[in-house]
Formats: sequence, C-alpha cells, structure tokens
Amino acid sequence: MLAGSAAAWAGPAAQRVPGANARVRVAGCGVRKRGWHHVRQFSGLPGVEVAALCEVYENVLNGGLQDVEKLGLPKPKTYIDVRRLMADKFIDAVSIATPTSWHALIAIWACQAGKDV
Ligand SMILES: NC(=O)c1ccc[n+]([C@@H]2O[C@H](COP(=O)([O-])OP(=O)(O)OC[C@H]3O[C@@H](n4cnc5c(N)ncnc54)[C@H](O)[C@@H]3O)[C@@H](O)[C@H]2O)c1
Repeated sequence: MLAGSAAAWAGPAAQRVPGANARVRVAGCGVRKRGWHHVRQFSGLPGVEVAALCEVYENVLNGGLQDVEKLGLPKPKTYIDVRRLMADKFIDAVSIATPTSWHALIAIWACQAGKDV
C-alpha cells in the first residue's frame, strides 16, 4: 500500500501492488487488430501478466488464445461478457480495444470495479 502523496497520484491497481516484485494482471478487451497489438505489447513489459482476454466474437477469442500460446505465455482466462470480467477481483487493469462506441462504458465499469484502465 502506498502512503501519503504517492497514494494521491497512483491509480487503484497501483495501490494494490505491494512491492516491486508484484505483477500487474491486465485484461485485454476486444482482441482483434488493435487489441492483439495491446496484448502483445503488455506481454513484453516486465511485471505485467496478460491474465484475461475478453472478446464477444468467439472465433476471435479462440484465435487470441492460440496466439498467446504461441508466444509461450501462461493461458489467460477468457470472457465473452465484459461485465463478468469486471467482477473478477484477480484483474488489476483493463486495456480497451473494442469499437469506439464501447470505450466509455467499459472504462467507467472498470473504474467502478476498482481497476486501472
Ligand atoms: N486497427 C488499428 O490500426 C487501430 C489503431 C489505433 C486505434 N484503433 C482503435 O482501436 C479500437 C479497435 O479497433 P480495431 O481495428 O482493432 O477493431 P476490430 O473491429 O478489428 O476489433 C474490435 C474487436 O472488439 C470486439 N468487441 C466488440 N464489442 C466488444 C465488447 N463489448 N466486449 C469485448 N469485445 C468486443 C469485436 O468482436 C472485435 O473483435 C477502435 O477504437 C479503433 O479506433 C485501431
């Protein structure tokens, strides 16, 4: 837990990170073109785990899972309904690459669920 002024600028997920060795568990929301780019970029960051994929189109979701496997990463959880993803306390942060009309709603739900966006 961060104290004093540090807590003022750190987002909710940062406040849950207990130390430098902790991992930030990110969920990719919408994992086709831009979303897959997000997943790949996050997977290369130290201290970050792509812990879930959320995608309404099942073929795209399954393709994303296979692509994660090809990268040699741990198998992420999968969600079709973004509201179920929000209820997952295991997820610290959400990366949004759905069509634009969904961005605000998913961002608001994620913030309400205490996740970084
Ligand atoms: N493609 C690019 O090069 C690019 C570059 C910069 C920004 N963007 C932005 O990224 C966003 C996504 O673009 P894209 O080209 O990847 O689009 P896309 O249509 O290829 O992918 C969007 C994916 O989101 C999924 N989706 C839709 N609603 C969803 C929901 N409620 N929950 C989970 N998944 C959902 C769709 O099934 C689809 O697979 C857009 O806002 C776009 O403007 C795209």
